[in-house]
Amino acid sequence: MVKLTIDDKVVEAEEGLTILDAANKVGVYIPTLCYHEALSPIGSCRVCSVEVIADGTSNLTTACNYPVEEGLKVRTNSEKVVQARRLAMELLLAQRPHSGSIGKLAKKLGIEEPSFTLKQRECILCELCVRACHEIVGADAITFIAQGINRGIDEPSIEVSPIKCIGCDSCAYVCPTEAITVEDVGDTRIINTPSGKMEFKLRKCRTCGNYWAPEKQLDYIAKKWHLEPGIFDTCPDCRD
Ligand code: SF4
Ligand code: FES
Repeated sequence: MVKLTIDDKVVEAEEGLTILDAANKVGVYIPTLCYHEALSPIGSCRVCSVEVIADGTSNLTTACNYPVEEGLKVRTNSEKVVQARRLAMELLLAQRPHSGSIGKLAKKLGIEEPSFTLKQRECILCELCVRACHEIVGADAITFIAQGINRGIDEPSIEVSPIKCIGCDSCAYVCPTEAITVEDVGDTRIINTPSGKMEFKLRKCRTCGNYWAPEKQLDYIAKKWHLEPGIFDTCPDCRD
């Protein structure tokens, strides 16, 4: 265990936890956008900026991926922090002004409109979809088109492999900007991404006749977990 201070609170936290974990433990709010508790943090949006003071030096860092340290002093609400979060949020809002989740978070931070304009884009390069597809689904169907220094310049930003994609919709679920959308129409699932549209045939339940999940996803799960053939012929509602 290490002891640190978050604002005026002394917090004990297990080594390996992040500042965000430690703050959550004691009820100190730190806003996040590119963070998801089920995925590894990469610290790309900077909305969770905090000020850390160690060895007499103060620096801004991202709380979602900064590990706790003995004696660390963290400020979550200093002027520096407020300004850093404001800039990060305005950058996101300027790029994606019509996104419900970005607008909501911006309002929570007291921002109605960005003070500058940027080229609008669907994807804010948060990598949540890439991480979900790799870490949770294991399909590795999504990659960034532009990497390194060129990242963020080229459009579209992500590329979805129609061969690897199983149509599961995990990417749309985690995407904070609604840049990926999923719609089931009759026997087809339609996934729209910044890199194009894909269609997947849905399986029909043998009992109720409803189309309930993509064939490709069900085949992927059955193969991965060595399940009996025919296990997904009926939908969850019609199983005992
Ligand atoms: S498509 Fe959505 S989840 Fe994927 S990187 Fe872009 S904004 Fe993030
Ligand atoms: S939530 Fe920490 S950098 Fe995005």
